[in-house]
Amino acid sequence: MFKTLLVTGAAGFIGSNFVDAALEKGYRIVALDKLNYCGNLENLVDARQNDRFTFIEGDVADTAQVLALLQTYQVNSVVHFAAQTHVDRSIKDPRAFIEDNVVGSQHLLDASLQYWKTLDEASQRAYRHIHISTDEVFGDLTDDEAPFTETSPYRPNSPYSASKAAADMFVRAYGKTYGLPVVIVHPSNNYGPRQFPEKLIPLMIQRALAGDTLPIYGTGKNRRDWMHVSDHCRALLAVIEKAKANETFNIGSGIETTNIEIVETLCAILDQKRPKADGHYRDQIEFVTDRPGHDWRYAMDTNKAHEHLGFSTGVSLQAGLEATVDWYLGNTQWVEHILSGQYRQWIDSQYGVKRED
Ligand code: TYD
Repeated sequence: MFKTLLVTGAAGFIGSNFVDAALEKGYRIVALDKLNYCGNLENLVDARQNDRFTFIEGDVADTAQVLALLQTYQVNSVVHFAAQTHVDRSIKDPRAFIEDNVVGSQHLLDASLQYWKTLDEASQRAYRHIHISTDEVFGDLTDDEAPFTETSPYRPNSPYSASKAAADMFVRAYGKTYGLPVVIVHPSNNYGPRQFPEKLIPLMIQRALAGDTLPIYGTGKNRRDWMHVSDHCRALLAVIEKAKANETFNIGSGIETTNIEIVETLCAILDQKRPKADGHYRDQIEFVTDRPGHDWRYAMDTNKAHEHLGFSTGVSLQAGLEATVDWYLGNTQWVEHILSGQYRQWIDSQYGVKRED
């Protein structure tokens, strides 16, 4: 018998990549997504060919609907990706982050708990409510501080990370108070195919190809731990199989890269793969006003994931960035569909209008 997972946010970037990886492993997937601006059914084209896959449009905050799904499909574990994830959007509209990330996650916990209580003892023991958090709940690091561990204090700095930290607290509380077998995962910055082009890497690829400026916030020396989404998905499959209840895991590449290094690498890859008629893509780089409260450095100590889950990174940054550029070059239709009214409004309000249409 295949195990069945309820995957929330399944039509988003990481969610859809996870769905493909889990189907490949033989899981049965019940996919839930409310298809907001970054939830895209095109991300699930392959999955929808698979008879172990079911898609349901809906909101994690609808406890009754989620409970009915859990019961109907006799779900074995929940993997909760659905969230508002973009820091810049959270600065402009924090409330949506409280609603989706905090209230939504708490409603999902309620449905999960109600369902879990109805299971027999063996199924209860095997059940996991896996909550995808972020490394950003730990705040940021100076150049000299040691990387984040699972026991680093919570010090969120943006409305986004504050909302994720609040949700984590509820997950922890449901584990401690009600006995729901929860696991919290703190992944670092993900990149790869199907990432919405508001995040650094796909934004830069898309703008470079469109001949737009490449806006680098502040000095460009802020550092992130970049992990290819396929590595993250592999780690999550190991979490489902191996993680004990009430555990938390940091997942990342363990390698730090500055934003300017990322953008210059992307420009060099594009120079090779899609040379400009004259000049280089890096000529489009423009340093712009810094993001308010911009976290300086994220770095991950992933020893626990290595020891408990056998996790280690598989994709090097160079190979991952090249593959990502290839994906965006090969999927221009996907990008064109994304460039809808809502996306354009965001780009215009964030970076100013610089196009002719
Ligand atoms: P982002 O992809 O938004 O992820 P996060 O803020 O969650 O780390 O941004 C990654 C880094 O890139 C971050 O330091 C902010 C920076 N950045 C820019 O310099 N310019 C941009 O236009 C964007 C979107 C991000």
